[in-house]
Amino acid sequence: MTTPLIIAVDGPAASGKGTIAQRLAQHYGLPHLDTGLLYRAVGLGVLDRGGDFGDADLAEQVARALEPEDLFDTTRLTDRGAGEAASRVAGHTGVRAALLDLQTRFARQPGGAVLDGRDIGTVIVPDAPVKLFVTASPEVRARRRWLQLTARGETLSFEDMLADIVRRDARDAGRGAAPMVQAADAALLDTTDMDIEAAFDAARRIVETSRAR
Ligand code: C5P
Repeated sequence: MTTPLIIAVDGPAASGKGTIAQRLAQHYGLPHLDTGLLYRAVGLGVLDRGGDFGDADLAEQVARALEPEDLFDTTRLTDRGAGEAASRVAGHTGVRAALLDLQTRFARQPGGAVLDGRDIGTVIVPDAPVKLFVTASPEVRARRRWLQLTARGETLSFEDMLADIVRRDARDAGRGAAPMVQAADAALLDTTDMDIEAAFDAARRIVETSRAR
């Protein structure tokens, strides 16, 4: 029997990990889960119930009650406020525990899967045969996200976007529960000077090298 191809793609916001994960999934014919959407849906659920991000019990309740339709409104889920809300609730251990089983089952389906997030290679599938940690300089990541958001009509300055990115990185990397960190056996892919084609190509080569091991 061939080993299922499970590809774990982690990294900070706007590093390119989502697009790379999507393209790898297409290339290898695998299902793809953007796990950030789960945390974003929980963050928005807390916002809709009064917005106390420090209330761990409320955040966990929202996470446990998550329904597929909470993931339908991708416009709202991918706006600036949802990213910030997600990162505020993602530090609660109860929230992470509530979302664990769904992610594990997705990863372990026959044939494999591609998942992107912050803790896929460290917590969700520590034995994944392929692990990538995708990063880029904060300035380049802020520029990419700023272009995306302003093209959609959000009004914010580049400086505010950069401050958002730096703050979110620090929160995600500094939390006690499943902090964002490169797994010891993950390949580092720095996309600072790459366009998406070059980044995808580099990612595909990493997958092939890891599979051949
Ligand atoms: O990847 P994305 O920007 O959509 O993630 C939003 C937030 O969700 C992150 O800043 C992080 O706090 C949280 N997250 C997480 N673990 C994951 C995916 C996302 O903590 N696996």
